[in-house]
Amino acid sequence: MTEQERISFLRQELAKHNYNYYVKDAPTISDFEFDKLLEELISLEKKHPELFDASSPSQRVGGEITKDFTTVQHKTRMMSLGNTYSKEEIEDFINRIKKSIETPVEFICELKYDGVAISIIYKNGILHQAITRGDGTQGDDITANVKTIRSIPLKLQGDFPDELEIRGEIFMTLDGFKKLNEDRVEAGFETFANPRNSASGTLKMQDSAIVAKRPLDSFLYFVIAPEAGFSSHQQSLEAATKWGFKVPQAKNNFVRLARDADEIQAFIDSWEHKRHDLPFEIDGIVIKVNDYKTQRLLGETAKSPRWAIAYKYKAEQVQTKLLSVSYQVGRTGAITPVANLQPVLLAGTTVKRASLHNADQIALHDLYINDQVYLEKGGEIIPKIVGVNLAERPADAFKIEYITNCPECGTPLVREEGEAKHFCPNELGCPPQQKGKIEHFISRKAMNIDGLGAETVETFFSKNLIKNYADLYNLKAEELMQLEGFQEKSVQNILAGLEASEQIPFDRVLYALGIRFVGETVAKKLARHYKSLDALMAATKDELIEVDEIGEKIATSVIQFFNQPENKDLIARMKTTGVQLEMQLEEAISNKLEGKKIVVSGVFENFERNDLKKLIEQNGGINVGSVSGKTDFVLAGEGMGPSKLAKAEKLGVSIVSEAEFVKMIGL
Ligand code: IVH
Repeated sequence: MTEQERISFLRQELAKHNYNYYVKDAPTISDFEFDKLLEELISLEKKHPELFDASSPSQRVGGEITKDFTTVQHKTRMMSLGNTYSKEEIEDFINRIKKSIETPVEFICELKYDGVAISIIYKNGILHQAITRGDGTQGDDITANVKTIRSIPLKLQGDFPDELEIRGEIFMTLDGFKKLNEDRVEAGFETFANPRNSASGTLKMQDSAIVAKRPLDSFLYFVIAPEAGFSSHQQSLEAATKWGFKVPQAKNNFVRLARDADEIQAFIDSWEHKRHDLPFEIDGIVIKVNDYKTQRLLGETAKSPRWAIAYKYKAEQVQTKLLSVSYQVGRTGAITPVANLQPVLLAGTTVKRASLHNADQIALHDLYINDQVYLEKGGEIIPKIVGVNLAERPADAFKIEYITNCPECGTPLVREEGEAKHFCPNELGCPPQQKGKIEHFISRKAMNIDGLGAETVETFFSKNLIKNYADLYNLKAEELMQLEGFQEKSVQNILAGLEASEQIPFDRVLYALGIRFVGETVAKKLARHYKSLDALMAATKDELIEVDEIGEKIATSVIQFFNQPENKDLIARMKTTGVQLEMQLEEAISNKLEGKKIVVSGVFENFERNDLKKLIEQNGGINVGSVSGKTDFVLAGEGMGPSKLAKAEKLGVSIVSEAEFVKMIGL
């Protein structure tokens, strides 16, 4: 098999496994085997840039940056649906239809997915463009981001029409949402309020490589393909399933044919409670006329079709007493008020507490202690307070006074402009923040230290054995053995875990340090750029901002971190351990671009922009984000921004083409 044949074989194999895993939910190989095949494909594709294919499974990792999403006109309007909330309204809907259509009408009932509406256009079976709903007539082109979603095919299977548009919903699974929020807390970012917000926030991100890492999924349920000649909605769904789309299936009871109000009601009832067990959120049911001809006869109003309607479930609500508010202090010092409630049964579980998020939420509902509050379970795992029963406000109710000092260490709280939360600024002396920093340091994505967990950190901290992560490396077997419940084996395990952490690469060490706003991705960027902690510490704020994709907020946070005397001590102590405080340079290819500051701009024929950036680094060059007098050259592709071009010309910075660059590094 030639390398070209191998590439094409791997592309087909990986697309098939991707489909089995994400669409059919029935993988036939292990994740490890999949990753190995993907790695092989990526390295072969790198060797053969001339065989670039925008629909290769390797493209799923993203990398394309979109600064401004282009506005695109929808060929057919993306309509919304009329909402109903009762059995009677559903019956009215059916009767209205029966009045104008004489023959029996067949309906299709579907789940109403609570995500972000999307329209995807395929040309000759290749994903061409993905557009958000926008105002219904025009939306944003978010193709690069949508291509990273594994359940959306880049290439269709079987017998598809040359041109086709398919619409549906992109959403985040509940599990994925929970994990994402945990990671965000770890990295010091605000959490997303619910899965829908996190899906829509993610789809609007500029860096598709980050989108690729977010757990987005899809259901596609609306086909526009006049060429295909379907006569019903059901037929179109069956065809879309064959083309490889993730289409709601009857076998899961996600769709069902119904002939009358009773059958529709039975579908609605069947999901009333079961919807809470789904791995994603739905906010109702959609009822559609199945037959296309009947749909056309019924037509549409200004906003929505007359042949379809949504039924919205009422969120289950209960009333209970607000007993008190406690305040939790997170790893970053963020304060979260928590309502303590009189225990009450809601959607099958007893609820005692509800998150109040921040001071604004308390003010919004004008909450009093002893109030009767309404609780609802939304997408969040934790129920939320949605209102107050003012008619039942008791005489002994009193207004909640938001705390002014940290409940853990007494330090006066601060609230920065634009932040929803209050913070305890005593980063280094506030116990939950101290422990949180250590927990972050040892976590899986950071130093991944075996044998250590939140509980052990708590024990060591309370026994004064550790105050910060540098202290971990001074732990002695003898002192640990004296702790209750620590045997030789577990102690050895911890010490071995610490020793093994010395092999963790520098970018992860940098992430582990717990600098605010330096999450995994930013840590990688900084580590790649500066190559060592010393170099990073020597950087000025302006220099940091010049680094590709590092902005003011991150730069300020990095500078602040290293300026703090306590952190200086901490770093000095980390230097005495064996952890990696600089990059291993094994990936270097040449020093042909040694020290050259290069700006990459535009779209390239044979490379993704990120691959070019990597090549620049591997050949000793430095990627910078904007053109300045210090820039050595701009590597320009098609459609480079006119302002960048003008600036480069004004400053006399040379412009290098893709072909010239390839020659330059001798590829
Ligand atoms: S059909 C013309 N089916 O709900 C018919 N919509 O309020 C258009 N949605 O914009 C939509 N699940 O984002 C349809 N099974 C489903 C749906 C669904 C969720 C969303 C969709 C649409 C909105 C309408």
